[in-house]
Amino acid sequence: MSSYPTKDLGAAPPLAAPERQKRINYYRLVFVALVFSLFALHSGFSGFRIPCFSPRHAPKIGTVTWLTECDVKGQECGSIVVPKDHFDPSVGTASISIARVKATRPKKGTLFLNPGGPGNSGTSGASPGFAAWLGNEWDILGFDPRGIHRTTPQVKCFASTEDYDFFKANTVLEQSFTVPSIANLSDPAVEEALVAQSREFIALKQAQAQICAKTMGDELRYMGSATVVRDMAFMADVFDGEGAKINFFGGSYGSILGMYLVNMLPERAGFVAIDGIVDPVAWATEPPYTWPANWLTSIEKTYRFFLETCAEAGPIRCPLTQYAGEPYEELEQRLEAFFDELAIAPMAVPFAKRPGLLTSGAVRGLLLMYLEQPTQWSDAAHALAAALAGDGAPLLNKLLTPGHVASPYHDLVRSAVTCLDVPPPASHHDIPTAEDLGRELVRTMREVSPHFGANLDLGEPDGGCEYWTARSPERFAGPWNATLEWPMLIVSNTMDPITPIQSGLRINGLMGDSSRLVIQDGPGHCYSSAPTPCMVKLVQGYFAGTLPANGTVCSPAFNSSWYFPDPAEEGDFRATLGFEEESSILEGARALGGLFRRRG
Ligand SMILES: *[C@@H]1O[C@H](CO)[C@@H](O)[C@H](O)[C@H]1NC(C)=O
Ligand SMILES: *[C@@H]1O[C@H](CO)[C@@H](O)[C@H](O)[C@H]1NC(C)=O
Ligand SMILES: *[C@@H]1O[C@H](CO)[C@@H](O)[C@H](O)[C@H]1NC(C)=O
Ligand SMILES: *[C@@H]1O[C@H](CO)[C@@H](O)[C@H](O)[C@H]1NC(C)=O
Repeated sequence: MSSYPTKDLGAAPPLAAPERQKRINYYRLVFVALVFSLFALHSGFSGFRIPCFSPRHAPKIGTVTWLTECDVKGQECGSIVVPKDHFDPSVGTASISIARVKATRPKKGTLFLNPGGPGNSGTSGASPGFAAWLGNEWDILGFDPRGIHRTTPQVKCFASTEDYDFFKANTVLEQSFTVPSIANLSDPAVEEALVAQSREFIALKQAQAQICAKTMGDELRYMGSATVVRDMAFMADVFDGEGAKINFFGGSYGSILGMYLVNMLPERAGFVAIDGIVDPVAWATEPPYTWPANWLTSIEKTYRFFLETCAEAGPIRCPLTQYAGEPYEELEQRLEAFFDELAIAPMAVPFAKRPGLLTSGAVRGLLLMYLEQPTQWSDAAHALAAALAGDGAPLLNKLLTPGHVASPYHDLVRSAVTCLDVPPPASHHDIPTAEDLGRELVRTMREVSPHFGANLDLGEPDGGCEYWTARSPERFAGPWNATLEWPMLIVSNTMDPITPIQSGLRINGLMGDSSRLVIQDGPGHCYSSAPTPCMVKLVQGYFAGTLPANGTVCSPAFNSSWYFPDPAEEGDFRATLGFEEESSILEGARALGGLFRRRG
């Protein structure tokens, strides 16, 4: 691993020869980066932001800069300068990366998008297709929240992505927790094994927190969700006029931003719709190691639906089953036998993007992530079937390249946000030990999800905030019962494996008549992972001014051949989602699916 550039290079003691060589390489790298930046500036390349080094040229707060080239055809993109700390202008500025599609009809306002994570880039969501889906009445504005992607300061703790990859490779951070067997969760060997792995987990989280503190210092203070809400208010002032309503559409972690927004600034809330609800009370008041028991309450139901649908589809469409109509318990038992084998001996995977191994924890964690995306269930079945037959490459490749991740530092960006939102430990007695972590994983398996209770961390890498020392200028922790002029829309699936309807019901209960809960009876993380025409129309209608009745349910819309298409069929018929509807609905549904596709 190479050394980390620090601010006091000059004061450092004389270097040993290999160390000097590394520094020379580092300067060489800086030179190449500078040349490339100049080239980028010259050519108008939009993938880079040129940092402002000189305080004499400090950017003016509120300045909006538009670039000439954007990621998505038909959008304008650029950045806006905001105060880094909304309560202390002396701290300097941050630059928020933005992308916009302007209304072509009389404009209702700006609609801010957030695609979750935290850590996902929001700029690609602003597409002409999405704008058209909402009737071209909104300025659609996607942005990268604090610390993320092209917004600066950016979370970047390690010297290189290779260093970070090397740090995580083949550790519990990359492979998740292996449970010896779920057959008897009272067996003390289960908890012992998880406590041992938790020791490694804690050490790595601690190391990574210390590296971030050293390389980023005070910059880490300005990444929290409350700060992002202030940014949206600031941008609404600039784009729509002082005190304008803030309109918002977010999924998954975006539901946290939505709940923060309406409860921090209720008088500013306009049209706010959130999909795939994360419980904001737990988020803001309980330590992350307790979250899996809250998040996984619908996953067993989803898993059973996956297995039953696979069996119904039959072995050609879903190779995990041996005959059409096989009882789901038989598939489940075959998979458990495979997990038990892997728990004793991981599988060698010599020929993947990076050679390595597959542990039982990694495969359970991957299956959990696949359950979030019904349009990938066919891929899941083929990758798992290959692993059962001895070829782990498809699964390991999926693990190494989960897709849709804006930053190779995704996990660190996520910590930078969540660790400012959660309550800081009051004292060292508050810092969970490996025994606490192991006990909680066993409790989650026993009480909530035997199959996945120890594996949420693979897709949702939380925890370790106890070692994060940065504190936000503002932390919001409720109350969550604001009164709104226009009720917010809350969307929940009945089988969302990680953001259960239980959380939608909870915030609907807190917000009362200032909210409407609408329910899609189906599987997947966020309704947009498998949108029914019914829900697509409810959401569209909400932004057009029609409030649905609270408790409206959209019935299941797809059959087993939709979830598991025949591999011999030409093309992917799900590209049209099987709707026999007008093309604008298809376009909007696709834009949404693309927006909320990622984990988190
Ligand atoms: C599970 O393990 C516990 C503790 O070792 C033991 O008392 C119990 O009999 C086991 N249960 C089964 C069904 O094997
Ligand atoms: C909102 O919640 C707070 C804290 O739980 C409570 O004190 C307050 O009475 C509630 N307000 C309303 C209008 O229900
Ligand atoms: C809204 O509908 C849900 C689901 O039917 C129900 O549980 C909840 O009590 C209703 N909420 C309100 C505020 O009426
Ligand atoms: C599933 O739905 C599609 C589209 O509605 C239909 O063409 C197909 O026959 C159905 N398949 C089964 C097995 O019911």
